[in-house]
Amino acid sequence: MLSHFNLCSFFFFSIIFVGGGVVSGQKIGLGYRLVSLEENPDGGGGLVGHLQLKQSTNTYGADIPHLRLFIKHETRNRLRIQITDAEKARWEVPYNLLKREAAPALQSSTKTAAGSSFTASEYSGDELVFSYVSDPFGFAVRRRSNGATLFNSSAEAADPYGDMVFKDQYLEVSTRLPEGASLYGLGENTQPGGIRLRPNDPYTLYTTDASAINLNTDLYGSHPIYMDLRNDNGAAFAHGVLLLNSNGMDVVYRGSSLTYKVIGGVLDFYFFSGPEPLDVVDQYTSLVGRPAPMPYWALGFHQCRWGYHNLSVVADVVERYEQAKIPLDVIWNDDDHMDASKDFTLDPVHYPRPKLLAFLDKIHRRGMKYIVLIDPGIAVNSTYAVFQRAMAKDVFIKYEGEPYLAQVWPGPVYFPDFLSPNGVSWWANEIARFHELVPVDGLWIDMNEASNFCTGKCTIPTTHLCRDPASTTPWICCLDCKNITDTRWDVPPYRINASGIGAPLGFNTIAASATHYDGVLEYNAHSLYGFSQTVATHGALQGLRGKRPFILTRSTFVGSGAYAAHWTGDNKGTWEDLRYSISTVLNFGIFGMPMVGSDICGFYPAAVPLEELCNRWIQLGAFYPFSRDHANKASPRQELYQWDSVAESARNALGLRYRLLPYLYTLNYQAHTTGAPMARPVFFSFPGFAESYNLSTQFLLGRGVMVSPVLEQGATTVRAVFPPGTWYNLFDMTKAVVSEGNARYVTLDAPLHEVNVHVYQNTILPMQRGGVLSKEARETPFALVVAFPLGAAEGEAEGTVYVDDDGRPEMRLAEGEASYVTFRARLLRGRKVEVWSEVEMGRFSVEKGMSIEKVSVLGLAGFGVGGGRGGGGGGGGYGYEQRPLRRRR
Ligand code: NOJ
Repeated sequence: MLSHFNLCSFFFFSIIFVGGGVVSGQKIGLGYRLVSLEENPDGGGGLVGHLQLKQSTNTYGADIPHLRLFIKHETRNRLRIQITDAEKARWEVPYNLLKREAAPALQSSTKTAAGSSFTASEYSGDELVFSYVSDPFGFAVRRRSNGATLFNSSAEAADPYGDMVFKDQYLEVSTRLPEGASLYGLGENTQPGGIRLRPNDPYTLYTTDASAINLNTDLYGSHPIYMDLRNDNGAAFAHGVLLLNSNGMDVVYRGSSLTYKVIGGVLDFYFFSGPEPLDVVDQYTSLVGRPAPMPYWALGFHQCRWGYHNLSVVADVVERYEQAKIPLDVIWNDDDHMDASKDFTLDPVHYPRPKLLAFLDKIHRRGMKYIVLIDPGIAVNSTYAVFQRAMAKDVFIKYEGEPYLAQVWPGPVYFPDFLSPNGVSWWANEIARFHELVPVDGLWIDMNEASNFCTGKCTIPTTHLCRDPASTTPWICCLDCKNITDTRWDVPPYRINASGIGAPLGFNTIAASATHYDGVLEYNAHSLYGFSQTVATHGALQGLRGKRPFILTRSTFVGSGAYAAHWTGDNKGTWEDLRYSISTVLNFGIFGMPMVGSDICGFYPAAVPLEELCNRWIQLGAFYPFSRDHANKASPRQELYQWDSVAESARNALGLRYRLLPYLYTLNYQAHTTGAPMARPVFFSFPGFAESYNLSTQFLLGRGVMVSPVLEQGATTVRAVFPPGTWYNLFDMTKAVVSEGNARYVTLDAPLHEVNVHVYQNTILPMQRGGVLSKEARETPFALVVAFPLGAAEGEAEGTVYVDDDGRPEMRLAEGEASYVTFRARLLRGRKVEVWSEVEMGRFSVEKGMSIEKVSVLGLAGFGVGGGRGGGGGGGGYGYEQRPLRRRR
């Protein structure tokens, strides 16, 4: 929130970026010597070793003299390497927050993991091999199948980046990278350079309320994971590297090397062997938690705005969507429904409860849903019951023994501690009470980095009132915010590039020396704040409603995807932000948080006229996994019905989304069971196709649906790249692009109301008739689109659909609760087509009377011909029949 900057005092610190291990020509650390390495004596598997400091230096504090090394092939494709102080426990990410799957039991009686073996210089697993040099200590990880070195920390290999450094408040390790590696991840970060990490761009991780318009800056989430894709003469191999650490860090990526500079915790590396990009996210999410199942309606369209000043405005928005026949499933309130911005309250004048309940009753009967925002900051107000109960249970984060005073929308606030059992139970109780007051269908947890308009210590004046520039209501605010510089936590020896300006750690947030439950320092737990609130909110909603919770959270950490959806924060109504949204959305798929989208049409107002932009944004946003229009109160109104042209684009694009809902829901199921991102970079399906490695203007939904939006003002065509094969236009299936040889780049027509969405050959796409409400759309008959290569004589196609009762908390395949159908088709001699289905747990679909009303077969020679410019022709034909979703041949 840029508006905070003028409310707070802060200091600028300059940052010196240096090669790892060296500062101002002086070495930060002189490395360690490996003194022992043996099979884990406690019988739990893996190896345990000890490292001895070679020589100490004092830059960034004293070195830790003895380190403990733990290495384990935890599964066939996951290797863990942990390095920590051998003598003293250090801060580690609390594993209980992660919804991790249990590692498979060891299959052999040997002490090392199944399939692993330990010799004097190497420790091999099924897919990965750990090796080391003893003096100075460095380790390498290589892929067993092709011998490629994936990570190499030894000083010689990482030269000139130096030896490993391990101090109390400064950890450093580097790896050498080969020419041509393509890296993805390390966020949250708006990346103007596209999805592939750009050498020498800063990657700083520390959860921060710096709006998404700040480029290459540490934003709301912290995800220290990257995927590395290497192409060896067309054969592509991907692997993943996670540093499970919640402390602030700079990751310095130079193209030929990557250096972590971390200000605390332990070095806890996990290597995922891939080799396909989809394998990497599967292996990653099996460790950190599978993406959360979504209720079906969450895949519908959402409308929100900050500044719906009263209930009539909200009711009017719903009505106007209905009149314009634009799909809308969910209507949201920002903090406008609250009484003086206080969580869990209603403004009695503008949102009177009886009227709100009547409104909710009406929209619920239609099948629509309602979500409201809550912030973590609890107003310090002795007449406010939520605050009183919180004080009684002692739930707040402390500073010098007292609740830490901050300032957010209601004025002075304290922040609940979601690492405290009391904090969690108090929060659940407040959510339950609020749900009695207002039967919301989900919760939006905002400002949870945590965002604070006052940096440091402040006083609350009794007389002084500040004014929120965007409103007429005076509010009490803190005065004299003074940065806290008392401790080595507030001013650590090494300063990460916080907020992109080398800001103090406490800038716009909680002082690093504040404490959580059990004495945990904010310094260590800062980036877990939003995550711990997400976990607490999830537990509360699930316990309360017995349903599948829907939570939207701004701040995220490793594992957040197992509980919630995310949006990319405060962007702006500009063409640049339209473009940048794609990389951030795709990155979150890699982070295991696939239910993600950006504020459609932009959050902050910009000098750009909105109409054309909003046309193009809804055409892109209709295919974000999470599709929501949201704006700042200072922005012009931008609901999709505000312009006839945007309404038309919305009906087209959202019309297709609603026909594709069974496909999207199946993608959510696949995400939940395998981590597969719903929206994914094109290289996920075509890892050998090098043109896709920095493709940030097109993306895939699932394996074979590609979206190629217009991202430039005034454009009515799109130059798009197509991996080899036939791609059929989903709006007009008589049009196809055949990509081969030099015809991979195609100029597609894209008049103002049209977006290009193509389905790939060999795909069977389950669709329904669509509608303006997901509840109704899902009750319509199914249609299958079967795509073969254009004009081929022989071909095969496959697709799947998952159906269930989304009211259940779990998303699983159990008899009577859900069905999973694999459709298969075969083309013979260019003329005969066989389509059949293999059904798992068929009872559910039969009991629900689901049926297929139409099968469209694309690609048969001799049927209609159309075409994209520069591409090939098209073709299709269809048979019509009514069939239950069960086995047939
Ligand atoms: C910040 C959020 O990012 C934005 O979406 C919201 O509208 C404001 N807070 C006000 O609650």
